[in-house]
Amino acid sequence: MPELLHTLYVDLASATANRSYPIQIGHGLIADASIWQPLVEGRGVILVTDDQVGPLYGEAVKAALIGAGQLTEVVLSAGEAHKDMTSIQQILDAALQNKHERSSLFVALGGGVVGDMTGFAAACFLRGADFVQVPTTLLAQVDSSVGGKTGVNHAMGKNLIGAFHQPRQVVIDLDTLSTLPAREFAAGLAEVIKYGLIRDAEFFVWLTANAEALNSRDATALAFAIERSCAIKAAVVAADEREGGVRAHLNFGHTFGHAIERIQGYGEWLHGEAVAAGMVLASRLSVLQGTLESRVVDDLMALNQAVGLPVSLPADMTAQALLEAMGSDKKVSGGKVRYIMLSQLGEAVVTENVTEDDIARVIDA
Ligand SMILES: NC(=O)c1ccc[n+]([C@@H]2O[C@H](COP(=O)([O-])OP(=O)(O)OC[C@H]3O[C@@H](n4cnc5c(N)ncnc54)[C@H](O)[C@@H]3O)[C@@H](O)[C@H]2O)c1
Repeated sequence: MPELLHTLYVDLASATANRSYPIQIGHGLIADASIWQPLVEGRGVILVTDDQVGPLYGEAVKAALIGAGQLTEVVLSAGEAHKDMTSIQQILDAALQNKHERSSLFVALGGGVVGDMTGFAAACFLRGADFVQVPTTLLAQVDSSVGGKTGVNHAMGKNLIGAFHQPRQVVIDLDTLSTLPAREFAAGLAEVIKYGLIRDAEFFVWLTANAEALNSRDATALAFAIERSCAIKAAVVAADEREGGVRAHLNFGHTFGHAIERIQGYGEWLHGEAVAAGMVLASRLSVLQGTLESRVVDDLMALNQAVGLPVSLPADMTAQALLEAMGSDKKVSGGKVRYIMLSQLGEAVVTENVTEDDIARVIDA
């Protein structure tokens, strides 16, 4: 039986438009026709998935799309290597060749790669069609499906082509996590831990106490961790949709993390793994700057280890290589790298006052 546990809202109401949307969290939601009916009644649907998720969950979604108009399914090759304009072309070709109209609804069934690309294709299709996120990885459920950042990679770097395009709804079916490989699951936990570090000290303490339950994918623990994570992300996005201010806090650990991914070549470490090591370095930097107690770094390392995440750089990576790679991160503003630091557990701040020497010291620590 489907069970809707939580409905949260990303509050984007303004004087001129209300683009607020619900995030629904529960069990069996993808197969629940009552979730789909208000979304799809009488309109065409372009269901986008990948060749790993499609065979697992595609049929359940299609069977629940009762009352929808024409249905077109697009199955992309799975993986970050396919997050490119060729896949966008594939989605748009299918939508156009099947004569979909702007009223059709794009549905993203998959991880962050499918979600980012479906959202971008929807933003481009006939100058903007609606889309719904149905995230099936932990990372996508707690992070990429909420907030409207969509896009693809370019040879010059990750996520360089894209658009802000908010979904109409996010449908999080906790049951889909049962098939997620262990490494992907742990990588998603890195972003969950991040929310505790930047916004909610109590949540961080709860995560530490419940690491075992999370590792075993205990349904109650997962539902709480995902709800709390989505609530934090929703609040940050509502406060700063286009990343002019506080939304940058969500990049905690990511400047280091992106640099690790760039040096290694994407695909060696998962994004969440690189972010996990990056958060340790960013926390150490905060200690070095005198804003954070070193105890927090110890607690973070213990938590990372408890859930199977790295706590330091890959063995063969030098401080010099990391520094160079960080300089070319796209979060550089006016030639300066902005660092997200912790002023205390549960509170993030942005600073540019970090020297190369500081970075070298935390890397070598
Ligand atoms: N838009 C944003 O705000 C935002 C935020 C963070 C990350 N991202 C993006 O998200 C992407 C990473 O997303 P991801 O970690 O979900 O990776 P992913 O989409 O590549 O999924 C990881 C792998 O798991 C498979 N998979 C997905 N769900 C599954 C399930 N339930 N069972 C079995 N296998 C399943 C996929 O087919 C894929 O092979 C990156 O491209 C990143 O840039 C975007």
